[in-house]
Amino acid sequence: MKGVILAGGTGSRLRPITHTGPKQLVPIANKPVLEYAIDDLRDAGITDIGIILGNKGRDAIQQYFGDGDDFGVDITYIVQGEPLGLAHAVGCARDFVGDESFVVYLGDDLMREGITELVEDFDADEYAAGIGLQEVDEPSRYGIVDVDENDNVVGLTEKPDDPPTNLALIGIYVFTPDIFPKIESLEPSWRGELEITEAIQALIDDGRRIQSHVVHGWWKDTGKPGDVVHANRLVLDDLQTDIRGTVEDDESITGRVELGEGSIIEEGAVVRGPVSIGEGTRIGSNAYIGPYTSIGDDSEVDNVHVESSVTIGENVITADRTIIDSLIGREASITSSKGRRPAGDRFVVGQNSSLEL
Ligand code: DAU
Repeated sequence: MKGVILAGGTGSRLRPITHTGPKQLVPIANKPVLEYAIDDLRDAGITDIGIILGNKGRDAIQQYFGDGDDFGVDITYIVQGEPLGLAHAVGCARDFVGDESFVVYLGDDLMREGITELVEDFDADEYAAGIGLQEVDEPSRYGIVDVDENDNVVGLTEKPDDPPTNLALIGIYVFTPDIFPKIESLEPSWRGELEITEAIQALIDDGRRIQSHVVHGWWKDTGKPGDVVHANRLVLDDLQTDIRGTVEDDESITGRVELGEGSIIEEGAVVRGPVSIGEGTRIGSNAYIGPYTSIGDDSEVDNVHVESSVTIGENVITADRTIIDSLIGREASITSSKGRRPAGDRFVVGQNSSLEL
């Protein structure tokens, strides 16, 4: 079976972080979101992967993943260009997948349990498609399914005002090639996109059955800044200690901490895990890095209290401040002039920004 990862789109809900790059490269615990999808496909035995690219960040994605060799997979890039909808993106993979069933994974989604069970359970003789589902708190943000008393999927609606259930499509699908004619017959939805939910609905309208699989481990769509911070917390919950850099004084560290090559935690600094620190980063002697924080590569962090936050990399963060639940873009700096220390600030700071507080 082949895999298709959708990595197009505009990432508008993640602005300003996505003004300069694709949302699929936003790091969660110092690893791009898209890499988690590649790992899940590979772990499910799928190594022939097509990545659908939009216009934004196309080169950056290809540069990072190359031909897939370093990630144990074989990658084919397919350009969608304008984000005309998930169904349009899937349609772009038609030649790549050929006549066999294939898996589609949304490139900004993360799930704890991976996809092996869902893929192995799929029965192409019985079902036209398989979908991953999970109960959610805000069903109007997602594609929602309706089920009958025997849990058969009887309908799907994209972001309904009046959701029939709180069972959401979590962005993992298995399709037979029968999906392609349905995609071709779609019209743009109210939001101007060709919706994959409508293509699946068209299969149901033809009397075809849809296999559903409720995923129990956590699942996260990283569409908004708060989602990135939350996904980072979820991933760090499973972090293992891995020190490849220098820790000047072991007393500095408590809990599980990952420290990349060429990074240093100076004597006097306090790092309370779970914390992930990338490569080439200096955590200065007056820094406090609190739980559920990921600090990116090549950064300078000192004289600051950072907690439950994600900094993407090449940052200078030396503000005399407490930074909580924040997302700081690449090459952004937060410095301070002298003043009183407030209780805490929450930021979403785009690439190359500079804040002096
Ligand atoms: O996260 C789960 C939800 O994902 C589902 O519940 C919805 O049914 C499904 O439509 C989708 O909704 P979103 O509004 O979150 O989709 P988004 O626009 O964020 O796109 C998901 C991924 O697909 C993302 O990595 C970008 C990529 N994409 C999106 C579009 C619109 C493309 O590659 N091409 C596109 O044209």
